[in-house]
Amino acid sequence: MKLLITGGAGFIGSNFVRHILNKYPDYQVINLDLLTYAGNLENLRDIEKNQNYQFVKGDIADKKLVGDLVKDVDVIVNFAAESHVDRSILDSAAFIRTNVVGTHNLLEAAKNAGGKRFHHVSTDEVFGHLEPGDPAFNESTPYAPRSPYSASKAASDHLVRAYFHTFGLPVTISNCSNNYGPFQFPEKLHGLFITNLLEGKKIPVYGDGTQVRDWLFVEDHCGAIDKIIHDGKIGETYCVGGDCEKPNIGITRKILEILGKDEEMIEYVKDRPGHDRRYAINFGKIKRELGWEPKTDFDTGMKKTVEWYQANEAWWRDIKSGEYLKYYEKQYGK
Ligand code: NAD
Ligand code: TYD
Repeated sequence: MKLLITGGAGFIGSNFVRHILNKYPDYQVINLDLLTYAGNLENLRDIEKNQNYQFVKGDIADKKLVGDLVKDVDVIVNFAAESHVDRSILDSAAFIRTNVVGTHNLLEAAKNAGGKRFHHVSTDEVFGHLEPGDPAFNESTPYAPRSPYSASKAASDHLVRAYFHTFGLPVTISNCSNNYGPFQFPEKLHGLFITNLLEGKKIPVYGDGTQVRDWLFVEDHCGAIDKIIHDGKIGETYCVGGDCEKPNIGITRKILEILGKDEEMIEYVKDRPGHDRRYAINFGKIKRELGWEPKTDFDTGMKKTVEWYQANEAWWRDIKSGEYLKYYEKQYGK
């Protein structure tokens, strides 16, 4: 199988590229990534010389490039996105461009190449948010996004489904809950808090820290996408989650505990505008139909994650100092 993986230099995409190349030694992977601030080739240093791996720097919204690349592959797995809610609040233009226009361009290319198999990686945030006690999101939950990020992902999901119904494009979608694990950019909760504490800095908890997320270790998300591209039913959506609802303050305390730091390091800061209260996923469908469920429990996943940041200090220090961007400028120009 030959896969075009977009956004493969980001957090989940790089874990997925590694997952595929390690598990299927005869598969070929093309990684198309624009190397925005969130893309980092250091995430793939260990596999860059793999003969079955090819990196292409480019934009999923580039018609010519994408049109050429899809001709030669069996499956497209679309991770490429602007992914950080706080950035979408500050400036949402890039979110519309990549998440909506870029996904549309990939769909057009997949259609024009004769109808390529297309898997779209999406988020549970498209369903909006839950109050405590509400039932978890599932595949029938109506879309009700509340941030520019989740609205742009919702738009992309609708386009993917429209290409299935209108053009018969063989698509699947996964809507996954919050991921954590190795290579997560240190602007998201885990990466930021762990690295701040390792630097002796305080950690900014938004509002009162009672907002709830359903956390999934990144390797488990990769396993779910692997199942879907091999056994998923065309035209279907699968909700993927960790069965691991935790308030932000619970994550914060766990990180403090693993690092042996005390609560003085917490700084309660102004809340995020429109902050979604709670996400939770019912992953009964993918469990029943494809036999997938998370393998990594919370304590194990948290320990592995903290240890990874401890062991990879150069990786996150280069990011936090901006040093990592210089490499690309040298390699690929600005
Ligand atoms: P990320 O921000 O770490 O990585 C995104 C990658 O996409 C980067 O490598 C970036 O360079 C690349 N990219 C951005 N714009 C591009 C463009 N126009 N063309 C080509 N490449 C481009 O994101 P992530 O956390 O790894 O998320 C990956 C996908 O998974 C996203 O679609 C996101 O919506 C979805 N998702 C994320 C989570 C989560 O908790 N992080 C949960 C569910 C779903
Ligand atoms: P984040 O990792 O940005 O993921 P998302 O907003 O997509 O769920 O944030 C996870 C939760 O952590 C969210 O409720 C916001 C909160 N948070 C903080 O309290 N402080 C921070 O500095 C960050 C980045 C997030």
